[in-house]
Amino acid sequence: MIILAIRCLTTSLKLYRINRENALWHYMVWLSSSYVMYSFSRVVGHIVKPLLIATGHLELWRFLDPLSGSLNNFTFFLVASVSLFFIGIYPLYLKIIREERQIEEINAELTEMNQELETLVAERTMALMGLTVADQVRNPAAVIGCTCKRVLAKDALTPETAGKMNSIIDECKKLETVVENFEYLLRSRRSIFRHEDINEVIRGIITLTEKEFSLKGLHLDLRLSQHPLKMNIERNLLRVALFHVIRNSIDATQPGGLISVASTADSDTITITLSDTGPGIPGEIREKIFDPFFTTKHHKFGMGLPLVKQIVSEHLGDIMIQSEKGKGTTVTISFPVRWKETQKANSVPLIPS
Ligand SMILES: Nc1ncnc2c1ncn2[C@@H]1O[C@H](COP(=O)(O)OP(=O)(O)O)[C@@H](O)[C@H]1O
Ligand SMILES: [Mg+2]
Repeated sequence: MIILAIRCLTTSLKLYRINRENALWHYMVWLSSSYVMYSFSRVVGHIVKPLLIATGHLELWRFLDPLSGSLNNFTFFLVASVSLFFIGIYPLYLKIIREERQIEEINAELTEMNQELETLVAERTMALMGLTVADQVRNPAAVIGCTCKRVLAKDALTPETAGKMNSIIDECKKLETVVENFEYLLRSRRSIFRHEDINEVIRGIITLTEKEFSLKGLHLDLRLSQHPLKMNIERNLLRVALFHVIRNSIDATQPGGLISVASTADSDTITITLSDTGPGIPGEIREKIFDPFFTTKHHKFGMGLPLVKQIVSEHLGDIMIQSEKGKGTTVTISFPVRWKETQKANSVPLIPS
């Protein structure tokens, strides 16, 4: 019994050392320690007792007897309390593991979303910078070329100087062509718009954020139109925009609060409404929330709403924010019905001309 108990304890200790955060191995260490204690107390009872009596050490046995009984009782008490504790803690432990996994999944999805967003912002910023540089190079090149032509036409130049002037003019023309090609390349990069269901995009965003809802204890009221709301959308862009609006509501709403998302359509407009029961936006900052880099949060960049506005306007839509201090915020995004018409997959320039 002692050998088995000690084997149990050493195995449990080995498992515990491999993963100290595992509740089951904790439990096994306590249980097998009790088992070892119990086996020793049994040895005292079953082997030492007859030996002591046979050798005439009755007095010593009388002294040890209650100690052995107490050790037994203590062991039973220990096993019972460790087991009760384990029964209580184990479901909690499983829940923590499940939630850790969920958080990892959310993180992976958010990282993917952020990467999409960063690529988008970087692409646009680079393209806009490229266009600015192109503009700055083209103008001086054109001025130099024209000035040289004028000098050539008016002044009497030696054949050698005239040759040099002509080569400057040629180089300027080349430079202008390079800049034109570069500009054409940037402007011809296009985002792809497809005729897709907006409700599907909303559902995707809800799936992405629903774990955050449950972790923060927020309630969701989702009321999507019964019929699909198809219109020409750049799915990834719209996803990013709706995600940002919902993120702001999640950030702003206290646990127990409500976030409502609805989509409707009439003959003129498709409307998406997102409201929350957060603290609202104070009047003094309401005008600034669409300014790039305006934020009231730590560790945030304030690029959410400017980007949302840009994306909505690329879909020919409007965004309106109503907010009452202490009551909450409602963001209404609407798209004209013209944009709803069935069209083939279609594309628009990455950089609006
Ligand atoms: N639903 C909302 N409730 C309260 N304040 C909001 C809400 N949405 C936006 N805001 C305010 O607008 C600011 C700008 O938002 P945003 O451009 O998304 O930037 P960020 O979220 O990075 O701060 C936020 O810092 C916040 O003060
Ligand atoms: Mg934001």
